[in-house]
Amino acid sequence: MKNIRMSSYYEMLYTIPLRRAMIPLSIVWLTLLTAPFGLNAQEVNPRPPREPVKVAEGKHGMVVTDTPFASQVGRDILAKGGNAVDAAVGVSIALQVSWPEAGNIGGGGFMMISRPDEEVVCVSYREKAPAAVNEHSFDKWKEHYHVYMAGVPGTVRGLALAHEKYGKLPWKEIIEPSIVASRDGLEVDAYLAYSLNSVLLQGFIQKEDRFAELRRVYGHPEGRPWRAGDRLVQSDLAVSLTLIAEEGPSAFYEGPIADKIADEMQRGGGLMTKQDLKDYTAKVQTPIKGEFGPYTIYGAAPPSSGGTTVLMQMQILEALDFPTGQKDYWTADQVHLMTEAMRRSFRERAAWLGDPDFVSIPEHLITKEHAKKLAATIDPTKATPSTEIAGDIELTEGPYESPQTTHFSVIDKDGIAVSSTYTLEETFGCRIVVKGTGFLLNNEMGDFNWYPGYTNHEGKIGTKANRLAPGKRMLSSMSPTMVLQDGKPKLLIGSPGGRTIINTVSNILVQTLVLNRPLEEAIDGPRFHHQWFPDVLRYEASDGVFAKIEDDLKARGYTIQPWSGRQGCAQGIIVDTETGVAKGVGDWRRGSSALAVE
Ligand code: DON
Repeated sequence: MKNIRMSSYYEMLYTIPLRRAMIPLSIVWLTLLTAPFGLNAQEVNPRPPREPVKVAEGKHGMVVTDTPFASQVGRDILAKGGNAVDAAVGVSIALQVSWPEAGNIGGGGFMMISRPDEEVVCVSYREKAPAAVNEHSFDKWKEHYHVYMAGVPGTVRGLALAHEKYGKLPWKEIIEPSIVASRDGLEVDAYLAYSLNSVLLQGFIQKEDRFAELRRVYGHPEGRPWRAGDRLVQSDLAVSLTLIAEEGPSAFYEGPIADKIADEMQRGGGLMTKQDLKDYTAKVQTPIKGEFGPYTIYGAAPPSSGGTTVLMQMQILEALDFPTGQKDYWTADQVHLMTEAMRRSFRERAAWLGDPDFVSIPEHLITKEHAKKLAATIDPTKATPSTEIAGDIELTEGPYESPQTTHFSVIDKDGIAVSSTYTLEETFGCRIVVKGTGFLLNNEMGDFNWYPGYTNHEGKIGTKANRLAPGKRMLSSMSPTMVLQDGKPKLLIGSPGGRTIINTVSNILVQTLVLNRPLEEAIDGPRFHHQWFPDVLRYEASDGVFAKIEDDLKARGYTIQPWSGRQGCAQGIIVDTETGVAKGVGDWRRGSSALAVE
């Protein structure tokens, strides 16, 4: 009742035509007016309700992404003869237009590519620290939403590299639909309206001058909140994308866009220079690979921790007597063993993983022998306190200060498959839109270990491998994953969610590969997460599944945290390797769209 009344009040307030300049003031009014009623931005901008997972099936190609527009762009590229890599590049650009909180040309990521009869590769385009940083830079940096938090963006070089090596259609043709949609406008759906309103309604975004460009680019022209059915026109972005389409990545790294990024750095006090942009390279890496039963699992290699940590978990479970017989959806025994695998793999992640150009990563981490050793330390009946497995990582006492991402999966009619995750780090990155370009910069520098030497019980990690250094790539948890069976793509999966990404992926791998649950159930069902520290088992509480096993888990020594939030947003494809039929499943946790080529 309260929600309905206030929502209509909010609408009434905003149906009065306001000039663009009034936006900040009106939002401040809104905050002041709703505060006495105990309401907040979430209540006047309600989250879209839960919908069923999106499912599509087909033999001629499949695209599953966060937005209907991006899936349509990918599907159209496949339908006109492009391959999965062309579609993946088109989707990545289309997400910049249709899901700006995470879709990005100002961020970075990892694209896993499988081609028949070829080794799986990972196109790695993680951001880099600017050359001018030093190990003490974090001493002075206290804000997440600041240009100094932006790593040198990798997306445009990464997409160009993937296209040049593995694509088929002309580069320009792939980008064209996104130029048209940003120039002529894109229909806003409930998810995009919610996303844009969420950032625009934040008091500090409304107040501070440095966010003026974000308000100009993403604010509704009439100064009211976005609603489903509105049109979002992004004229500056159309110009940037046209430059990239016509001139290639050099427009971004050396040309007019580089100039604008450098100007933004000057204005805002950032360290990234034109030289940093010019020097940026993306690379093709050998992915992490491991056998698991009849399957081969491939994951992103460092500087992502995703592939290594997911594989470690799966191999630990393989070394255990993992119960598969029960019909109940997540039994206490299953959650216990998986949590212990999570705990141990996250400890190893903290100890060893970082940018391989700077740190040496032991090869034994992903061996079955190592998994067996770790599995042998698990008590089948009781939780192991995280402090007990810290080993030589020194733990410190003290407070924890807390700090977006999108995954898509594509397969084409010839069996070329892509599993790709890219990010701005937080939702809308550092919230700074580079003036005149229509895109946001990431705040990925926050993925380095902020406080060297300071690893605490609340989850701050200060280990050596991921400390800040000039030109270094920050450690990621992105886990675009591919499972092959008999050399053919079987499952493509990944998710957003920071460190939870790793566990969202392992939750789904266990359900599909071990428990033989259909992908739609595995994506639909509630997820759980443990990351070593904090020593807390957090789970999605909405379905009541975990309520049934709470007492059992507590008796085993777990500190549990039922959570009303949503863990990730997994977009997956599973293939029947005998019939060749691909089933695409889009998560309900955000907007998503699964489209098959007819
Ligand atoms: O690379 C990483 O692991 C993080 N920057 C990802 C952040 C993320 O997934 C936030 N999204 N929900």
